[in-house]
Amino acid sequence: MSKNISKPSSLDLAILVLGNGGREHAMVKALARSPHCAALFCSSGNGGIADDAECVILPTAQDVIDFCDEEDIDLVIIGPEQPLVDGVSDMLRREGILVFAPSQAAAQLEASKSFTKSICDAANIPTASYGSFTDRDAALAYLATQSLPIVIKADGLAAGKGVIIALTMDEATSTIHAMFDGQFGAASSTVVIESFLEGEEISFFALCDGTRCVPFGSAQDHKRAYDGDEGPNTGGMGTYAPAPIMNVELERIIMNEIMQPAVDEMAKRGTPYQGILFAGLMIQHNRPMLIEFNARLGDPETQVLLTRLTTDFAALCYHAALGTLPDQPMQWDERAAVCVVMASKGYPNHYSKGTEIHNLEIAESMDDVVVYHAGTEVTEDGRLIAIGGRVLGITALGATVLEAQQRAYAAVDTIDWKEGFCRRDIAWRAIARD
Ligand code: AMP
Ligand code: GLY
Repeated sequence: MSKNISKPSSLDLAILVLGNGGREHAMVKALARSPHCAALFCSSGNGGIADDAECVILPTAQDVIDFCDEEDIDLVIIGPEQPLVDGVSDMLRREGILVFAPSQAAAQLEASKSFTKSICDAANIPTASYGSFTDRDAALAYLATQSLPIVIKADGLAAGKGVIIALTMDEATSTIHAMFDGQFGAASSTVVIESFLEGEEISFFALCDGTRCVPFGSAQDHKRAYDGDEGPNTGGMGTYAPAPIMNVELERIIMNEIMQPAVDEMAKRGTPYQGILFAGLMIQHNRPMLIEFNARLGDPETQVLLTRLTTDFAALCYHAALGTLPDQPMQWDERAAVCVVMASKGYPNHYSKGTEIHNLEIAESMDDVVVYHAGTEVTEDGRLIAIGGRVLGITALGATVLEAQQRAYAAVDTIDWKEGFCRRDIAWRAIARD
């Protein structure tokens, strides 16, 4: 039943997106704008994605393969990291399906911090000095030689909780014990200890086709739940793009010293990197240091990135997947974008599901505002309900970050959702710079 990876000559693509969050809604909307997107499906989607794509439920890789065969899908785009780590892209490729996403081997750049460090060593990528350990005593001995603060990381995926910045040796020691005691299961059977980097943190993206890689924008996010960057860590409570600290020279350095060397090293090892490469970077005095790689777009970074993108996203993904990415810069709306995440009260801890959201159409109809859905569902009787932690990403464009922020909050304020909350200060750092 395999399908050939042959190019539709006029580029009329039937595309399937995998994922159900705000990132995937932004991807679906960007694809829907493309004249090359002839049919658009999403598994499993959400209450908003259902307006822009046909939502289908494909729980297993085999279901995806069968669907691609039935619907003559030309391209599958994978949003979240878990399917990459599970090898879904490889399973699809083995059936001759064209996929925009890294292989399981290439997704090691997200799945294993010690693997990423070994790539940094081999490709001379600037990053924090470190030690990587599978033995508790060796880790504790290394710790004793380090200064504070010190960063302790579970090697594998730990739902965003596997990084501890220890301010005291006691805290560092007990973190190392907890990780080797199985705090994060297999993810912490290897522990990376690294020096603390100071500077300003940004998210930087590159689009890669296995050999080439081109810049795909920058953003900054707010990971803490409450105003003033206080409270528990979350998946991200808001973003803005571009990162104000970015400039042409810095982008050149990031591409030449970090992104392209990583792509070259992966190709050299026979595990070429194809898809989006997302670098978490610390910038100090216009010099970037790599904090981590992710093998996908960020959430909620994608909401601001793709709202600004004017280059055809469908054609980009298609060419990257084929290995024929044109070496041309992206075109962006010159304006700034701000995304304010609305979450269920209680997130990132306990929150209730099924609460009703009213009046979304007012926000949706506002100029230069896009409402991206994450944890939403439309009930059989047509009500919009929240079914997740992060629920909406209210995104606005503006001539300045301040204007984009004001427009985003004006839209937020029209939404009637008593059980929801958002931060009121997204982009404060960028605005304070102006
Ligand atoms: P990671 O999961 O590696 O992105 O780490 C989560 C967060 O911890 C990052 O977004 C940074 O804010 C912080 N972090 C990680 N490593 C370091 C480091 N070496 N120095 C300072 N902050 C770090
Ligand atoms: N917003 C950070 C991430 O997607 O990993």
